[in-house]
Amino acid sequence: MGEGRAKIAVIGAGNVGATCAFVLAQMKLGDIVLLDIYEGVAKGKALDMSQGGQVLNYDGSLTGTSDYADISGADVVVVTSGFPRKPGMSREDLIGKNADIISQVGAGIKEHAPDSRIVMVTNPLDLMTYHMQRVTGFPHSRVVGQAGILDSARMTHFIAQEVGCSNEDVQAMVLGGHGDTMVPLPRYTTVAGIPITQILDEETISAISARTAGGGGEIVKLLGTGSAFYAPGAAAAVMAEAILTDRKRMLPCSAHLTGQYGMDDIYIGVPVVLGADGVEQIIELELTDTEMESLQGSGAFYKEQLSELLGY
Ligand code: NAI
Ligand code: 2OP
Repeated sequence: MGEGRAKIAVIGAGNVGATCAFVLAQMKLGDIVLLDIYEGVAKGKALDMSQGGQVLNYDGSLTGTSDYADISGADVVVVTSGFPRKPGMSREDLIGKNADIISQVGAGIKEHAPDSRIVMVTNPLDLMTYHMQRVTGFPHSRVVGQAGILDSARMTHFIAQEVGCSNEDVQAMVLGGHGDTMVPLPRYTTVAGIPITQILDEETISAISARTAGGGGEIVKLLGTGSAFYAPGAAAAVMAEAILTDRKRMLPCSAHLTGQYGMDDIYIGVPVVLGADGVEQIIELELTDTEMESLQGSGAFYKEQLSELLGY
């Protein structure tokens, strides 16, 4: 990381981007630049958040722009630009429009923040993370996607509700792609260290896993327009924090595999250690045959999409 105050750029000042910037401001990590094609939206939200500084006790510069020169020197760039889902759409339905946006954003980052670490949020997440790495040519470790923190947080919440305990005492693990093929792992999910398989019956665990996999869609349906943004924005901010402060957090993220879990040249959700260098380690869990089949099935789905829809 550079000398002095850290700099974080958030691309896309919509629901997820603005939420992420607001959470980052409260984490007091450094200066924040919010970039959007709609300059007024970026500037207006940045000014609004800056004025909240006195109320919520944060300082530092929080600015809005549409000019990539303003992200120059950013340590971390969180990318949220792109269309969200409408009811009835899958995340993969967004690919055409969002791939063009990511090509444009990637070129801006490559030119103006060539040493940054990129946290991707735009959907379809695993495919857009792959695409961003190709567009920028950055080392794979410096391009990572947010999905697993959100999906695990959703599972955590459903378990906490069912058990009647605090969210804080639940640790859930969801791997695989950020879509219908995601892989909740009850065997690696605990409440205060106790495996949930000892606390909840099989039927309840299956229902929680299914609700987790459909967690984004449940919110899309309720909202009627757009998709979730509070938990997603906060999850991306946690990844930026882990990188900026070199916390070496072990978190499920979309990372580039080179043979781990029997998959090669694909971005998919696995546990990683996130620090100053981005993805510093990929953790290989011992999986049962069924769990491994689900994870590899998810990988195969995205591999096909990479080739069919993006030509990789
Ligand atoms: P939104 O519509 O509220 O905001 C998107 C913003 O991107 C808009 O302000 C728009 O002007 C901006 N934008 C569009 N093209 C741009 C470009 N070329 N350069 C810069 N900015 C541009 O959408 P929302 O709800 O913030 O979602 C953003 C993306 O994040 C969507 O693709 C959504 O599916 C995805 N998402 C991913 C999650 C994850 O867990 N990975 C969770 C939630 C959302
Ligand atoms: C979510 O899971 C839409 O990916 C977004 O809420």
